[in-house]
Amino acid sequence: MMRTYGTRRYRSASDPPGPFGRTGGMKRAHAALPIAATLIASALLTTASLSAQSAGPFTAAQAKDGEAIFTTKCSVCHGAQLQGKVGPALAGPTFIASYNGQTADDVRDFISTAMPLTAPGSLKPAEVLAVLSYILQQNHYAAGSAPLTETSSKTVKIATQP
Ligand code: HEC
Repeated sequence: MMRTYGTRRYRSASDPPGPFGRTGGMKRAHAALPIAATLIASALLTTASLSAQSAGPFTAAQAKDGEAIFTTKCSVCHGAQLQGKVGPALAGPTFIASYNGQTADDVRDFISTAMPLTAPGSLKPAEVLAVLSYILQQNHYAAGSAPLTETSSKTVKIATQP
């Protein structure tokens, strides 16, 4: 039995649609499936994380809300262009350097507990995220389709944007 099939296998290998050749081909295909699935899955994940990055960490609407809050509650000390006045600059190399190696969540935490200097802790969590979005935007982070949240802010590194 085995030998007979073994012989047929060799013959049908050079003779494409032979029955054993097909079975062998199917076996190979089955074995390759999990590998192919893994490759496709990781390719999709890579694409997803790349597009999540290029999409930007906040929405344009959030940054716009943040601009209004900044103008009324922060610009008096930080400057209308975030260039710094009584308070330090919140855009540019000095700001990036001051949060170097930290995340947007560290900035969020500082704003929510210490700012505005005259009324610390007075901003609602959504207002803090909005003003933080505006600060990120002014530091050349691009807007995206997903809003900035407390959780997502932990994944946003403070660094000079290309
Ligand atoms: C009355 C003036 C004043 C107002 C209003 C004010 N700040 Fe500040 N801010 C300061 C000063 C002064 C510092 C520096 C304090 C320190 O380093 O401890 C500071 C520091 C900061 C920092 C840290 C900057 C760094 O490089 O370490 C952030 C972020 C910040 N402010 C955000 C805000 C936001 C957002 C608002 C508005 C919601 C705001 N501030 C309103 C005076 C102000």
